[in-house]
Amino acid sequence: MKKIQLHNEAAVGVFAANLILSLIKENPTAVISLPTGKTPLPMYASIRVMMQEKKEKNMPLPWHAVSFFQLDEYVRPASGTMVVESFIEYLNRELLSVTEGIHFHSIAQYQTNPDDYEKAIQNAGGLDLVVLGIGINGHIAFNEPGTQPESLTRTVLLDETTRQSNFGTDQLNDNTPTQAITMGIQTILSARQIVLLATGEKKKAIVQQAFSDQEPNASIPASWLKRHPNVILLTDFLMP
Ligand code: PGA
Repeated sequence: MKKIQLHNEAAVGVFAANLILSLIKENPTAVISLPTGKTPLPMYASIRVMMQEKKEKNMPLPWHAVSFFQLDEYVRPASGTMVVESFIEYLNRELLSVTEGIHFHSIAQYQTNPDDYEKAIQNAGGLDLVVLGIGINGHIAFNEPGTQPESLTRTVLLDETTRQSNFGTDQLNDNTPTQAITMGIQTILSARQIVLLATGEKKKAIVQQAFSDQEPNASIPASWLKRHPNVILLTDFLMP
């Protein structure tokens, strides 16, 4: 694992954006998966700025042969109403406005047949790059504590810590999701390259635990990343 410490979250965003755009320049048919949440917001802001600069220089980056597989998505609550922003709405706002023509694969469509999502990824040539955030409980995508490394795309129950962190403790009601569909750890580990973004003091403890000298284990799902030969950890705090 390559650990890179940058001076703030904006610098992490710029670094990750450069990495993604370089990949697409080198490999216009890249297969990618990018995260949602607060951490990657500076990365998307940088992608938008860089795309605008390329457009002004008449050097647009072609996205029409890139495949994007969604990492995870909330399952609509049984009440039928979802008060939180879905991840597809988030990605529409943050990314899809500047990536015209990208082949977007919505994970929600595979809720009843999740194995077909795995096949779709394979049929696209496998994941070239997965960028991840990490939850304060050590989850990656929605692989909550207890997740084994053989896990594939499936529907999962959200941890209470995840619900509290994502929706706020005073917003938990029948209209906030209790389930999600997510790529599994095995799906993520099948990627040729993985980048994990972790910024802010509140992520420091879990990142240090996940990547300590201990054997990877299911209590901190991010620790399974230690089994992958090509992971870059981008932080704005010092790692031992
Ligand atoms: P965050 O979420 O970027 O909003 O902290 C990360 C995650 O839960 O994976």
